[in-house]
Amino acid sequence: MENEIKNIRQLFKEDLKAASDVKALEDIRVKYLGRKGIVSKLMEKLPSLDKDKKPLIGKELNVLKTFIQGELKSKGEVFISKNNLMEEVDITLPGIAPSVGRLHPITKTLNEINGIFISLGFKIEEGPEIEKEFYNFEALNIPLEHPSRDAFDTFYIKGDILLRSHTSTVQIRIMEKTKPPIQAIMPGRVYRPDAVDASHSFMFHQVEGLMVDHDIKFSDLKGVLNIFTKQMFGEKTKTRFRPSFFPFTEPSAEVDISCIICRGKGCRVCSHTGWLEILGAGMVNPKVFEAVGYRATKYAGFAFGMGVERIAMLKYGIDDIRLFFENDVRFLKQF
Ligand code: DAH
Repeated sequence: MENEIKNIRQLFKEDLKAASDVKALEDIRVKYLGRKGIVSKLMEKLPSLDKDKKPLIGKELNVLKTFIQGELKSKGEVFISKNNLMEEVDITLPGIAPSVGRLHPITKTLNEINGIFISLGFKIEEGPEIEKEFYNFEALNIPLEHPSRDAFDTFYIKGDILLRSHTSTVQIRIMEKTKPPIQAIMPGRVYRPDAVDASHSFMFHQVEGLMVDHDIKFSDLKGVLNIFTKQMFGEKTKTRFRPSFFPFTEPSAEVDISCIICRGKGCRVCSHTGWLEILGAGMVNPKVFEAVGYRATKYAGFAFGMGVERIAMLKYGIDDIRLFFENDVRFLKQF
């Protein structure tokens, strides 16, 4: 019987070696350990053995049984992991596309605005968001206690330190450190203590423009802005200059474009006027030149300022400014 056990072990090893899939392993299990299997049959013979042989044979049979079970299990695991591996590299399955990042619509719009002005010879300049009162107000001809301060009210930090409420501050910083000719645009964030709603935000973006030399005229301003509006909103876009007031420009104008939705016929977006206001502009006020130490009789210049969110909302047909800042991927991935 002991020899028989050895032979069975050998036989099993050969069978196991030949097995090439899970199904073959199951057949082997039935052959040896099944109810009518080889090992089970031997077990049945145990009671009829000699008393002194019984314990030894019984033990050996148990060892054989455990051995067979262990071997079947580990070979089975090899098959399963091989199968899984094959599934992992199944090149016939469609791939999983990685999610691709993209630019924020405000960044995209800013890049587009910058690109147009760069092509016209403008340089990009930047200034601080935390400013002194002087740059946000006095230097721009907005004196303390003057009602025009209200329009540019802001958040105060400490003393005369505040968050800039427009990018016009950067005009002053550039003129303080350089002499004309100046031809620059100044993009950046600005802050206003406005209650947030569909068209207001306490933080938004502006692009300021400034061109100063000996003989800059209002017609230069019109020429530059006409090119800008056509490139930004399409060749068919018309531009209109309406008289307005800003303390830092004289004369001042508000610039409208023909409504890009209805092409000037009148619709809900343009409040049935056919026109959409997009920016403020004008000839630099001599008082501003004086504030930066220029001789006001020597130079002339134009300036303009636009809100980037407003331009992006018009261009992409967005009706709520809050969408830009909520970080909702469903919105952002449309651009
Ligand atoms: N700073 C103005 C604002 O925030 C925009 C503006 C108007 C800028 C006229 C200018 C300008 O440079 O000439 O509403």
